[in-house]
Amino acid sequence: MSVETLDHLTHSGIEAQKIPAMQDLDASKLAIELTKSPRKVPELNSAGVWSCKECTDHTLELASKNKLSFAYPSSVLTVTWLEGKGWGTPKIVPYGPLTIMPTASCLHYATQCFEGMKIYRGYDGKLRLFRPDRNCARLVTSSARVSLPIFNPVELEKLLKALMKIDGAKWLPKSEPGNFLYLRPAVIGNGEQLGVSAPPEVLLFVIAVPWPDLSTGWNPSTDKKAPGLKLLASKNDTRAWPGGFGYAKVGANYGPSFVASTEGRKKGYDQILWLFGPDYQVTEAGASNFFIIWTTKEGKMQLITAPLDDKIILDGVTRRSVLELAHERFIVGSEYLDSNIKPLEVVERTFTMAEVVEAKNENRIVEAFVSGTAYFITPVSAINFQEEEFSIPMGGGETGYFAGALKKWLMDIKYGNVDHPWGVIVEED
Ligand code: COI
Repeated sequence: MSVETLDHLTHSGIEAQKIPAMQDLDASKLAIELTKSPRKVPELNSAGVWSCKECTDHTLELASKNKLSFAYPSSVLTVTWLEGKGWGTPKIVPYGPLTIMPTASCLHYATQCFEGMKIYRGYDGKLRLFRPDRNCARLVTSSARVSLPIFNPVELEKLLKALMKIDGAKWLPKSEPGNFLYLRPAVIGNGEQLGVSAPPEVLLFVIAVPWPDLSTGWNPSTDKKAPGLKLLASKNDTRAWPGGFGYAKVGANYGPSFVASTEGRKKGYDQILWLFGPDYQVTEAGASNFFIIWTTKEGKMQLITAPLDDKIILDGVTRRSVLELAHERFIVGSEYLDSNIKPLEVVERTFTMAEVVEAKNENRIVEAFVSGTAYFITPVSAINFQEEEFSIPMGGGETGYFAGALKKWLMDIKYGNVDHPWGVIVEED
């Protein structure tokens, strides 16, 4: 296992020496069954893309069993029981329904976790994943948190590339650079027992789907372009808490949040700004990480975001990339910084709504934005806290300076305008 993986496992409280000596995920065993009914690729930015349900032709499936031999009726995958054997043969199969038992653990006990990542068709014609090692390692961390079996993330990365080698050319044609697909790896507890314990059988699968660019501010339901997200601060709902699972990408962090987000949308807000505790600590926004840039009382420009150490927020891949780029490029003498722009101090610490409101009252907020795979880098235009809405500057236009610069740098990496180790090329035939 890589150092990165061990880092994630330690983060999730799992010690390296406890990694079981079972058969691990092995990409070299991959079996491929190509579809006989190719699916239609939706037009760019069409209703089909916004529906987020026009998946690509193939699914990557992988099962682990430690109970009974079980043949999937579609003859997609058969894995025989072998005590302590671990992961079976990975298979790429035509996209279609999964077969799981009504007793499947994920349906009853939320033994489920997933990843969100994208694959990009570059302006140089190449396909790239963005820091896939981080997503694969985080899926291991999330699996461990909900007692699903862990695996070698390096093998999963190989399998993602194999899936995209098959579906990439058709779903992200070279003739249309600058587009992406959303990739959804998931691990679910399956099995034929309703007992309240870790599932005896597990399925890992990966699908890919055309996905809208949510960072532009265009809303298809109103056909209105309104750059910037309006955030409604949470009131009674708590997304995550110390000792919980906020750091893991498990479905249980998302489903329960839909009550608040649906209410927020009815009131005209795009996302919930998730607060925590009696002092209203600022944690995440919607399903994204949240950043503010403000001038401190001492006159320093500061980029601030919630920390990882209390394990309440997700260790976002885009969040991490924002922090790393900010540390490297928003500094004194940086060739990347416009000469009239002050360098930034980058701070990860707990901060509260009282500080945000004070900064707003003292006109010290410079800009705010969210980061994530789905929303990428999207500026925030307003926050409603305790029934009072206040605006956040957006450089007078579509985005503030810093969010704009970060978005451009990241897009350059993802679409191959610059060579960078975070842009990982997927070889095609
Ligand atoms: C992301 O932005 O990282 C996600 O995967 C969020 C997802 C729930 C759409």
